[in-house]
Amino acid sequence: MAPDENAHVLADKVTRTARKHSLFEDAVRDLPIPICSVFFDAGGRLTPVAFQETNIVVTGSGHEQSLAAFPLSIQRSRNAVLEAIPGDTAGNAKGKRVAVLFSGGPAPGGHNVLAGLKAILGSDNTLVGIKKGTKGLFAGDLVEITRNDARSIVNTGGFDFLGTDRTKVKTPEQFASVRETIREHRLNGLVVVGGDDSNTNAAFISEYLLRENVECSVISVPKTIDGDLAIGNLLPTSFGFDTATKVYAQLVGNLIQDSASAVKYWHFVKLMGRTASKITLEVALQTKPAIALISEEIYEKNMSLEQVVDYIVRVISERRLKGINHGVILVPEGLIEFIPEMRQLIQELNKVLAEYDRDITDLPTLKNKQEFIYPLISPPSAQLMASLPEDIQEMLILERGDHGNVKVSQIETEKLLIDKVRYRMSQMKRHTDRYFGKGQGKLDIPPEQIEDFKAVTLATQAHFLGYEGRCAKPSALDQAMTFSLGLAAGSLILAGKTGYMATVTDFDKGGRILALPLSGLLASEMRKGKPELVIEKSLVDLHSPAFQFFAANRDRWAGEDMFSSPGPPQYWGPTSNQIPISVAFNQGYADYENLNLGKNHNIGELLGTGE
Ligand code: FBP
Repeated sequence: MAPDENAHVLADKVTRTARKHSLFEDAVRDLPIPICSVFFDAGGRLTPVAFQETNIVVTGSGHEQSLAAFPLSIQRSRNAVLEAIPGDTAGNAKGKRVAVLFSGGPAPGGHNVLAGLKAILGSDNTLVGIKKGTKGLFAGDLVEITRNDARSIVNTGGFDFLGTDRTKVKTPEQFASVRETIREHRLNGLVVVGGDDSNTNAAFISEYLLRENVECSVISVPKTIDGDLAIGNLLPTSFGFDTATKVYAQLVGNLIQDSASAVKYWHFVKLMGRTASKITLEVALQTKPAIALISEEIYEKNMSLEQVVDYIVRVISERRLKGINHGVILVPEGLIEFIPEMRQLIQELNKVLAEYDRDITDLPTLKNKQEFIYPLISPPSAQLMASLPEDIQEMLILERGDHGNVKVSQIETEKLLIDKVRYRMSQMKRHTDRYFGKGQGKLDIPPEQIEDFKAVTLATQAHFLGYEGRCAKPSALDQAMTFSLGLAAGSLILAGKTGYMATVTDFDKGGRILALPLSGLLASEMRKGKPELVIEKSLVDLHSPAFQFFAANRDRWAGEDMFSSPGPPQYWGPTSNQIPISVAFNQGYADYENLNLGKNHNIGELLGTGE
């Protein structure tokens, strides 16, 4: 072909990749997915499963309050966990209308939940999607999901097919509008795909519908990249965690390798995770950085901001004395709220802002706002706030989420730590008598080494890895788990169950499908000064095998470069069967390269022919 013709053919091919048809997207859409065998009948046909009660009963720490708030759900389920067993094809329901919505932040695999639902509901039932999350449920913004739709989104990342939001269902009017949408669209089932708040929504909607005698099953599907929706071996992890941590681990691995190559930078990397440090722990296990801060440990040890800075400075100094002037420090997004004095300050600010939000917003300068706020908070909090850089103070005052809480993802904790560490390192150079010599916390080194120490300048780079991971193409685990979650949620609705969360467990043994009663998972938490029932967040357990392994090894990783760089998440190839190391540790698996959720199946074939 002449060069002109080549350019033409090439241009055509590149043009065709628009609208999510990159070479990779087309390839990954056709990738077969492992599916748990329980969903197939003796003839190998995909079949809705039935559910039987196990002898496991779950009771959250808010049990007493739950008894009063969820009498009908508890009467029906007795809070017993259900397990999927092969279904009876003859008894399959027909003519059901099932709606599904996404809620909260996006997580890889959401689209496969829709594909799984579509596949299990088949052509005898209708699947509709609710646009823009809970708000769309109130407004009745529904659209039918066809087989073609399901085929086009399978194995793709994101929630963009339907959209999402973070609205909570709270007021009587909101509950009434949910009932109205269900009535108007003749819905027999509602699937809520979301995190802890969204699962709490699902629990309350389910109880409300029982009370109102509205026959509509409500089933939730556990998602969040944060990994803080996890319940022992009943829910090893939520979907999205595996993919997001693989994306972050790749980027962190690259950064560590860069730091060891350029040998001049300290990279401070904030990693998403609104509350729990599970993402940071997993990324640390995958990459072995010089430092990974774990919020839960800092809280447990009651460490102040200055003590956190002490720890970082100690590691940087010890490496500097060995001639290593680079490294990577992982900082969990939620850190700021786990430092007890910062938590106190934020709580006091929350109260002041709830009462005087307008007045404070109207004040033109930060100085005016400080003058207004400082007298209204305790002296230690005012002092702490005054010690923070001005941009952090601005963020603490201005960046509020939908529920009036500080938006921690917007607070540049990594930069706050850089500021503090740089200041401390410069103090060390200026006041050598205070920081070097004999005595607690001092570096006892000979004078010539002190001069070498002073000759080095601390060069830092700040990063925030968060949004980069939320819409990646789902990993093999997330592809498989989410498709099976869709199959399980659809089966629960066809079986007439309500108020359950579908889960997949036993990632290394072919998978096990469970349904956890939402009314048994609620804890009582203080929100805006009042006790509220919410699905409990799962934080890093300092006694867990994953944390214990990290704690036993981190000093070695701090002392010299021992990093590993795990590379990109693989969708086929040698590392595609890797599951999160922290999950493998905590589930007691012997390996983390052992994904086994059943035999591979082609999704196009399972969805069947036609639109
Ligand atoms: P979900 O718990 O809803 O999955 O969201 C988690 C998260 O990714 C957090 O890690 C982060 O704090 C938050 O979303 C940020 O969300 P946004 O900026 O989209 O509101």
